[in-house]
Amino acid sequence: MGAIVTVGCQWGDEGKGKIIDVIAQEADCIVRHQGGNNAGHSLRIGDQDYVLHLIPSGILYPGRRCIIGAGVVLDPLVLWEEITHLRSRGVAVSPENLMISGNASLILSYHRLLDGLDEEARGAARVGTTRRGIGPAYMDKVGRLSLRVFDLIDADRFRERLRPVLQHKNRVLSQVYGHAPVNYDEMLATYLPMGEKLAPFVGDEVPELNAAIDAGKRVLFEGAQGALLDVTYGTYPYVTSSSTGAGGACTGAGVGPTKVEKVLGIAKAYTTRVGEGPFPTEADPATADLIRNAGPIGEFGATTGRPRRCGWFDVPLIRRSVMASGVTHLALTRLDILSEVSIIKVCVGYRLGRHRLEVAPADAALLSQVEPEYEEIPTWGVDLSGITNEADLPSGAREYLRRLEDWVGRPIQMVSVGPGRRQTIIRAESLFS
Ligand code: IMP
Repeated sequence: MGAIVTVGCQWGDEGKGKIIDVIAQEADCIVRHQGGNNAGHSLRIGDQDYVLHLIPSGILYPGRRCIIGAGVVLDPLVLWEEITHLRSRGVAVSPENLMISGNASLILSYHRLLDGLDEEARGAARVGTTRRGIGPAYMDKVGRLSLRVFDLIDADRFRERLRPVLQHKNRVLSQVYGHAPVNYDEMLATYLPMGEKLAPFVGDEVPELNAAIDAGKRVLFEGAQGALLDVTYGTYPYVTSSSTGAGGACTGAGVGPTKVEKVLGIAKAYTTRVGEGPFPTEADPATADLIRNAGPIGEFGATTGRPRRCGWFDVPLIRRSVMASGVTHLALTRLDILSEVSIIKVCVGYRLGRHRLEVAPADAALLSQVEPEYEEIPTWGVDLSGITNEADLPSGAREYLRRLEDWVGRPIQMVSVGPGRRQTIIRAESLFS
């Protein structure tokens, strides 16, 4: 038995948290491997809502092992707050069920500060980041300036490594942005207690994960953001700073591609995007508004509360994500939302000048010039939120699934019709096969 990697096929917010939560029922171990607390996985369990930013959603099931891999950029203050919050709601979080890679790079206060200052400085060319310090933390990682979790849990080492890095950051803060410096002693006072609190959770995911997979354990890699936000293959520069495609699971958790058996691509039944950047199928304001406010959970960012831009399902974009991540199966989310619209459109190709494109172009600048070619799908207008069997879906909704499978070329194995665990149609014996 190999591992499953889940990957968002659009610009994030595909409803991965809910899908991952459903698969986690069958998993032994759930792993986050990239991104940081820019992610927000919303889950509804019974009548309780949870939003998790860093801790894998498997934490809500007793007996699952959750791992935060080295590819994550970890804000220790946010992680501790999340642990404390979960505990206050009766969820057990301990070194028994949560491990943090010692090699994960830290997000520290100056990263958050620099993220905001950099966005302001870019003016109209801003990326629209979540301002959680993600980009500056990854810049330090590849620039070999990061402090890591291993540094945080060794007070002497943290004191020693922080001093020259902070001197450098303070030069940037004052000389580039005209901002006041960050105080070294205050940073120690904030972060050293975090090191003490988090130390019992710290470990090495490489031997643990490889042994688990070799022993036939069911390991689930929980992708954050979406393939189109990938720092290399996404709509650059309007991307996040990590490898959000399936390959990120290997580089961010220390397992080889030979250990991955299945890549589940997760896509919404339509498309959304937060932040700036091209969006060929963005709907007119009235339709976007309708989609945004339909259903029990509207299209507003789980991390920042920003309204999401909304539009139609875009097959050329999904084809690109499917290829770049080796997607083998699909999960389609929020199908229930389309019950509320009076027309359903799907973009099945682009026009670019005299050319017809089946796959989204590599150059994001061209993506803003393409003209989508739409097919209209008959609406079904029936509430889907109580349906758990495929046979009970109205024929229009079944037709929608069948045509998406044809256009994308991958089977849809799961369909979500609401935020609850049970509001899921599963079209497979086992999600791990
Ligand atoms: P950053 O990841 O905060 O640097 O933001 C870079 C871009 O990625 C912005 O357009 C964000 O809106 C977007 N982004 C980051 N995380 C998420 C997410 O979890 N869902 C959707 N968009 C995201």
